[in-house]
Amino acid sequence: MPRILDGNRVRDDIKEELKPRIQALSASGRPPGLAVVLVGHNPASEIYVRSKIKTCHDLGIYSESIAPPDSITTEELLGIVEQLNAREDIDGILVQLPLPAHVDTKRILLAIHPAKDVDGFHPYNVGALVAGLPAPRACTPAGIIELLKRSAIPIAGKRAVVVGRSDIVGKPVAMLLLHEHATVTICHSKTPDLPGVCRGAEILVAAIGRPAMITADFIQPGATVIDVGTNHIKDRAEAARIFRNSPEKLASFDKRGSLLVGDVDPVDVVERAGAYTPVPGGVGPLTIAMLMVNTVAAAEQRRGGV
Ligand code: GUN
Repeated sequence: MPRILDGNRVRDDIKEELKPRIQALSASGRPPGLAVVLVGHNPASEIYVRSKIKTCHDLGIYSESIAPPDSITTEELLGIVEQLNAREDIDGILVQLPLPAHVDTKRILLAIHPAKDVDGFHPYNVGALVAGLPAPRACTPAGIIELLKRSAIPIAGKRAVVVGRSDIVGKPVAMLLLHEHATVTICHSKTPDLPGVCRGAEILVAAIGRPAMITADFIQPGATVIDVGTNHIKDRAEAARIFRNSPEKLASFDKRGSLLVGDVDPVDVVERAGAYTPVPGGVGPLTIAMLMVNTVAAAEQRRGGV
C-alpha cells in the first residue's frame, strides 16, 4: 500500500507553529488582519471563503469579508481594493477568483498592493517567485512544497511533471519545484503522448480540473502523486464508474447527491503510486494553511519584523 500524504496533519502542524507569531503580533498592538472579497454567489467560492474566515477566527487573526453583488463593475471593485490598500489594520487582501466575466481580473489583481497580496498573484510577486526573491507565494503551490518537505519526500534531482499550466497552480508549482532542484516538465492539453511524459515522473502533480483523468497508464510505479483537483461529480453513473461501484462511495453519493474526486483516478493511484495525496484531505487543507502563513508574514513585514 502506498503512503498517504496527510494534508490535515500538516495543516494542523502549520497552524500550531503560527500561534506564537500571532500572539506576538497581537501583544505588540493588534492581530494580523485579512480582508476577503467575494463577488456574487459562486457556491464553491462561498464554501472556500467561509473556511478561510473560520480558520482566521480559530487562530486569532482579524478577518473581514466583503461581498459585493455580481453586478459590480471593475471600477467599483478597484475602489474597494484601494480602500483596503489604505487600511492600517488590514495586512492581507484576497479577492476570491473566479470573478464575473465582465470584471477585468488582471486589473483587479494588479491593483492589490504587492505587500498585501497574500495570494501571491500580483505580477510583482510572480516576478519575485521567478527571481527567487522573498515574497508571498501562491498558497496551493507553497502548500504542495510544504507537504513534500514535511513528508520527507526528496525533490532535488527528481523528475517532476506538472499537468496543467494555470497561473494559480501549474506555473507557480513548477517554478517552486525548479527552485528545489527538480527537473521539471510542464504539460497541458496539447502535449503529445501525455501518459508517456507523465510516466517519466517521480513526482507527478495533477492540476487540470478533469475528474480522474490521470489513470494507471500515467503513473510510474512508486511515484509520488500530488492531486490538486477538486471536482464535484453529480452524475451517479460517473461516480459509480470512477469509484468502481464502491458501496461506501455510492452510499455517500446517495446521501449528498455528489462526490468529490480529484484529477487522479482514486483506485489506480492506490495500486501504482508510492505516495499520494487523497481527495479530500490532501492538498486542499494546505491552501488555507498557507494563506494564514502569508497573512502572518505580511503583518510581520508591515511592522518591520516582530
Ligand atoms: N480560487 C481558487 N483558488 C483560489 C485561491 O487560491 N485564491 C483566490 N483568490 N481565489 C481562488
